[in-house]
Amino acid sequence: MAQNFKVKDINLADQGDLKIAWAESRMPVLMALRKKFAAEKPLKGHRVAGCLHVTKETAVLVGTLEAAGAEVSWSGCNPLSTQDDVAAALARKGTSIYAWHGMSNEEFYWCIDRTIDFKPTLTLDDGADLIMTVHTKRQDLAKTVIGGTEETTTGVHRLRAMANDGKLVYPVIAINDAETKWDFDNVYGTGQSTLDGIIRATSVLLAGKNVVVAGFGHCGKGCAGRAKGMGANTIITEVLPTAALKATLEGHKAMTMDEAAKQGDVFITATGMKDVLVERHFASMKDGAIVCNTGHYDCEINIPALEKLAVSKRTIRDNCEEFTMKDGRRIYLLARGRLVNLAAAEGHPSEVMDMSFANQFLGMVRLAKEGKTMKAGVHDIDPAQDQELAALKLATMGIKIDALTKEQTTYANDYTAGT
Ligand SMILES: NC(=O)c1ccc[n+]([C@@H]2O[C@H](COP(=O)([O-])OP(=O)(O)OC[C@H]3O[C@@H](n4cnc5c(N)ncnc54)[C@H](O)[C@@H]3O)[C@@H](O)[C@H]2O)c1
Repeated sequence: MAQNFKVKDINLADQGDLKIAWAESRMPVLMALRKKFAAEKPLKGHRVAGCLHVTKETAVLVGTLEAAGAEVSWSGCNPLSTQDDVAAALARKGTSIYAWHGMSNEEFYWCIDRTIDFKPTLTLDDGADLIMTVHTKRQDLAKTVIGGTEETTTGVHRLRAMANDGKLVYPVIAINDAETKWDFDNVYGTGQSTLDGIIRATSVLLAGKNVVVAGFGHCGKGCAGRAKGMGANTIITEVLPTAALKATLEGHKAMTMDEAAKQGDVFITATGMKDVLVERHFASMKDGAIVCNTGHYDCEINIPALEKLAVSKRTIRDNCEEFTMKDGRRIYLLARGRLVNLAAAEGHPSEVMDMSFANQFLGMVRLAKEGKTMKAGVHDIDPAQDQELAALKLATMGIKIDALTKEQTTYANDYTAGT
């Protein structure tokens, strides 16, 4: 297929190239894989359709897929997360790309449709919208796909539900669930970039503020830990008793959202669940409360309820809308309830995406080799891959660790050894 694209402004490509070069210099693991597989070209003859945030780090992944022989077609997986300069740079380099910041929902699905027009053999998702399109609207295309990968928690949930229903027709590797992804990207990546998004959108001081984090899973743990480190009083809301208990023992205060709504200065939803903040919560929030979401979809904050309560609304800063209530209280919604770290900041730092995207790349290589013999359904990555990638990452950081001695290995397997 001839290269094709629709981006905001191709003239932004020079700036995009600089950003990509910066990311490349901070993603040594993925760059090492690029070098290794450029000669072998394991993806030769494959058409990879991707639907994942168009950031500088994603551009490094795309470059690596192409270096390994793949033809690539891409769209963004969120209407507000595309970095237009990076999209322009990818288009100028010859990648088929359909993505721009601020697209409508219809345009979002139009872009996915264009991405898969070239009949992909492999799909790469973040949230499962592309794979859903292949399984519903464009079922004719499913026959040529030998496998896919999924980047995020919400996407993996959707795919597992689909597989349980017997509806998933090809194998998909759950990249999210790799230890070197979930325990790093979601925790440290989301933790830092979510606060980055809040600060860029508001410039508020976090020290001394009551920061409420809904969900103490991977992302919530990262956000709460970082906010606490900056001097905030952290409050957690949860539905899972063990998660709430862990949060309490980490030094956060756990309580219901009904209670937290009255106390919070900043609210971050990180659950992957809808309606976490609803009308009664907005009704009891303090004047000046800041509300944002870092979960995959924009359904965690019930925005129609906020709009219903408001008598007026205005954009007061980039990515910051002020809603004034009847009683004069003001509530500030960031990035229209979309992922605040990608819409108001640049997404996760390159260093952490290095491992996530190394997993994505190796997932694609595995599918190219074994996809045809893998069963339809959701597959985990090999835990050995986690250790290999972590070892590679440590080496790039100049960190050496110990290895078990022969005697220790024997001891580890010796059930007769006791007191
Ligand atoms: N912003 C980003 O860049 C980014 C990065 C990774 C993941 N995500 C997304 O963030 C979301 C969370 O991912 P995760 O990996 O932390 O998932 P997780 O499963 O580790 O954690 C989610 C937590 O939310 C809790 N929860 C569910 N419903 C709740 C409710 N109503 N109130 C309070 N807590 C509730 C669960 O009990 C769980 O502990 C997902 O949508 C995921 O796709 C976003």
